[in-house]
Amino acid sequence: MNFRKISYQIKKICCIGAGYVGGPTMAVLADRCKDIKVTLVDINQERINAWNDEDLKKLPVYEPGLKEIIKRNRNKNLFFSCEIAKTIKEADMVFISVNTPTKTSGFGAGYASDLKWVESSARQVADFSSGHTIVVEKSTVPVRTAELIQNILNDSEEISTNSQNKKSYSVLSSPEFLAEGTAINDLENPDRVLIGGEDNDAMESLSSIYEKWIPAEKILFTNVWSSELSKLTANAFLAQRLSSINAISALCEATGAEIKEVSNAIGSDKRIGERFLDAGPGFGGSCFQKDILNLVYLCQYYGLEKVSKYWEQVLTVNNWQKERIASLVVEKLFGTVTNKKIALFGFSFKANTNDTRESPSISISKDLLANGANLMINDPQVSPFQIEKELCIKESRTFSDMQGCWSFSENLNECVKDADAIIIMTAWDEYRKLDFKEFSKLMRKPSWVFDTRKIISKNSLNGTGIKFWQVGMGSI
Ligand code: NAD
Ligand code: UGA
Repeated sequence: MNFRKISYQIKKICCIGAGYVGGPTMAVLADRCKDIKVTLVDINQERINAWNDEDLKKLPVYEPGLKEIIKRNRNKNLFFSCEIAKTIKEADMVFISVNTPTKTSGFGAGYASDLKWVESSARQVADFSSGHTIVVEKSTVPVRTAELIQNILNDSEEISTNSQNKKSYSVLSSPEFLAEGTAINDLENPDRVLIGGEDNDAMESLSSIYEKWIPAEKILFTNVWSSELSKLTANAFLAQRLSSINAISALCEATGAEIKEVSNAIGSDKRIGERFLDAGPGFGGSCFQKDILNLVYLCQYYGLEKVSKYWEQVLTVNNWQKERIASLVVEKLFGTVTNKKIALFGFSFKANTNDTRESPSISISKDLLANGANLMINDPQVSPFQIEKELCIKESRTFSDMQGCWSFSENLNECVKDADAIIIMTAWDEYRKLDFKEFSKLMRKPSWVFDTRKIISKNSLNGTGIKFWQVGMGSI
């Protein structure tokens, strides 16, 4: 396609949804396009207040490099607000970056994406916009969601035909591929950006914004449905690699092979590639599971039973990896963890984020708590309040007379004191160089370290007497 003319000059952008995607994405956009006023709106006043907090440590999203960008641009051309109507009215372009979690009730519950927040965003645009508005779907959605948005907007367009405030719209899909923990780098140097649509002028306008910092050859133009489906497919392929390597990690443990040696060997084949081959406790995060469930649902909807079953296996293996790790911890601790103290290091779903959604730490903690273990949890960025929300069990202060309780400590020595085991759940840098000599003096014997992330060197345990289990480490 050959676009050159830019028909729509974009001066004001509104982003609906100031979450893990909206926040960093718009911060980078504002940083790179000083001539555009970017305003993020959200229905969650607390979140907006946190984005506006003077103390940058209180931003609602922890992401390396984010607070510096916020500091540079906030209240210059980057704003956070709850004034949804006013912001949409002024905007030439509106990004929809709201949550699309798995439905919990009704048709498709447990599989389909809940589109109620996307729909309410489209209705807000229909109600409050003025003139021509380019609407960009940034949320991850089932293929053909743009149709839903377009239908809502068409009605508003028709109604406004004879009014003074005549409205019109172009709907584009431009899904986001950032990964948490590396969001700023991913946004500043993306592998590619997708723009799906039919209106060439609108596509060119969006492209001209991205081109302020992204080379034009990395901007791919597709039809809307390909763009929507590419996002689901990319996540499904990435998650599939993780279930594949996690499945092989169990086989390594059973046979004496070593997962890192296997992943290095297979990853050096350029057709396979070396990235995304780290075995772990199972993937977490807000998207892989929900996007695959969504894909499974779509395949079922279109009568593709075998395809749907194929993708569902990625989730089956992921759940199995989490369960098998919890159960092997119990098994190694003489078949019972009742009233035993276990130190759990890391609660976020990966390092360098404060996000805990679908973190493997949640299900592994729940399994251990259900078996009567007492957990002492540490995480550099996740608050005890957040852990309490995820575990649905109140934090406890005493271990002595209770079983199945948990507590939080910032002090690693306090975590391991009298503990039977340490489980490393998240690959935070803080956990890469632990002093096991010191820990061994504090722990109850026999003591164990379970490294689900493969970040501990076996040598660092030499002379400590601590027993060691590591994901994918063959012991035969
Ligand atoms: P999030 O829950 O952190 O943020 C969504 C925000 O939208 C919330 O603050 C919510 O209050 C707000 N919201 C919902 N409805 C609204 C409305 N009608 N008006 C105003 N605000 C509204 O979610 P997220 O992690 O930022 O994800 C957003 C979308 O991006 C999802 O579809 C997700 O699949 C996709 N995505 C996420 C990531 C990621 O790393 N988190 C990466 C790529 C894509
Ligand atoms: C993922 C994708 O990587 C992004 O491209 C996508 O935009 C995003 O989902 C989304 O749509 O939300 P994210 O979930 O933030 O990003 O983080 P990842 O780095 O993909 O990690 C996901 C999970 O897999 C984490 O639990 C992580 O620890 C685990 N993982 C990742 C491994 O166990 N091994 C690996 O080699 C890589």
